[in-house]
Amino acid sequence: MTRTTPRTPLTAHPSGALSGALRVPGDKSISHRALMIGAVAVGETVIHGLLEGEDVLGTARAMAALGAEVERTGDGAWQVRGRGVGGLLQPPEPIDFGNSGTGVRLMMGVIAGHDMIVELVGDASLSRRPMGRILTPLRQMGLAVVGEEREKLPLTIKGSASLIPITYELPVPSAQVKSAVLIAGLHAPGATTVLEKEPTRDHTERMLRYLGAEVRETQDGLFKAITVTGDAELVGRDIAVPGDPSSAAFLVASALLVPGSDVTIEGVLVNPTRTGLYETLQEMGADIRFENARDSGGEPIADIRVTAAGRLHGVRVPPERAPSMIDEYPVLSAVAALAEGETRMEGLAELRVKESDRLTATADGLAVCGVAAGVAGDTLIVRGGASIRGGGPVGTHLDHRIAMAFLTLGLAAESPVVIDDATMIATSFPEFRPLMEQLGASFGDGPGEPS
Ligand code: S3P
Repeated sequence: MTRTTPRTPLTAHPSGALSGALRVPGDKSISHRALMIGAVAVGETVIHGLLEGEDVLGTARAMAALGAEVERTGDGAWQVRGRGVGGLLQPPEPIDFGNSGTGVRLMMGVIAGHDMIVELVGDASLSRRPMGRILTPLRQMGLAVVGEEREKLPLTIKGSASLIPITYELPVPSAQVKSAVLIAGLHAPGATTVLEKEPTRDHTERMLRYLGAEVRETQDGLFKAITVTGDAELVGRDIAVPGDPSSAAFLVASALLVPGSDVTIEGVLVNPTRTGLYETLQEMGADIRFENARDSGGEPIADIRVTAAGRLHGVRVPPERAPSMIDEYPVLSAVAALAEGETRMEGLAELRVKESDRLTATADGLAVCGVAAGVAGDTLIVRGGASIRGGGPVGTHLDHRIAMAFLTLGLAAESPVVIDDATMIATSFPEFRPLMEQLGASFGDGPGEPS
């Protein structure tokens, strides 16, 4: 698939202290799951705070194409009238997931349990990403690939109304693979079990339980065994989606990079499977406080207050922390660029198969901005300096998080940072620019002056 929309460069200008209190949009992972799991529940699921980014809107359209009634009733407010487990309908045409790996991979788990044939397509970035990791377990359960044996989009898959329950050991620490198998398991008789060695985000397990499925977790030697009981009956409920910690990360990093900043982000998801970045920043010496901790619809949330308090220092980020901050390495690299000494981020093989090869894109972007950085195997090394030169254009490779990480860096550089394309920011964080501007950040369209 070729790119059809023109690139939109964007410049981040060196900014004064950032301050204010605000909320970020709903968590992307939970938003996808609310729509999909709501659509296989019986009755109505009312969602508040849904992320209205392109990736999640694609999932909403997909669920409607499969026969669920999906309606937007206000800002971030959506109603899903589900069709019950196994009750979705053959969609009339191919489903386009755009840039969204989570959307297409979890949806394969949904489609697996239905006797239907569906063609799945995506943009150039998504069409390069591996789908074999999802197809392998789902094939064991009874899903088939129609036509040419491919492991990349476009793909045509055929589900089955009589899936076989399996026990599957995750070969990579991926919540998407875990979730696809558990969601397919809803449609299989008996127990479907996923074995995971490193904990990955557990929103699927929490939401399945919240809507009434039986999900058990036991420790089995080195593995956590997560078992869902099939032929499940889910019942729709209200779901309040917490703020996305992966989006909040850009605001937190900006506040740490720009001297004098003091920023509070309210109602952010602080599920421990997602807070690796915050732990790392605290180890680097950051003043980050979690205030007003509470529970929201089965997930822990808090207000995050961050105060710039002098220069941070580089740290070693161990490989076992990667799953809990897998989307945050580009923005951590921006913070590391101004920290004292070296930051070594280890065990990052999975970064090569994200929306772009994020190891290469991050190291290249840092080099463009005059930051000393390198990749050694699966380790990313950033040598921090007392100042960042800035520059550009930084290549974003259809990757929203690369785009936002380098705009964040630009706020603290000596001269502006230009990214080649800001379009993809809309996939996960459409309000990025206005919210950052509300805090005092300065951007300009194209490579010119601030606007
Ligand atoms: C996600 C899981 C992660 C993450 C992605 C969202 C999810 O991907 O990078 O942004 O919602 O399950 P992997 O499962 O590939 O690690």
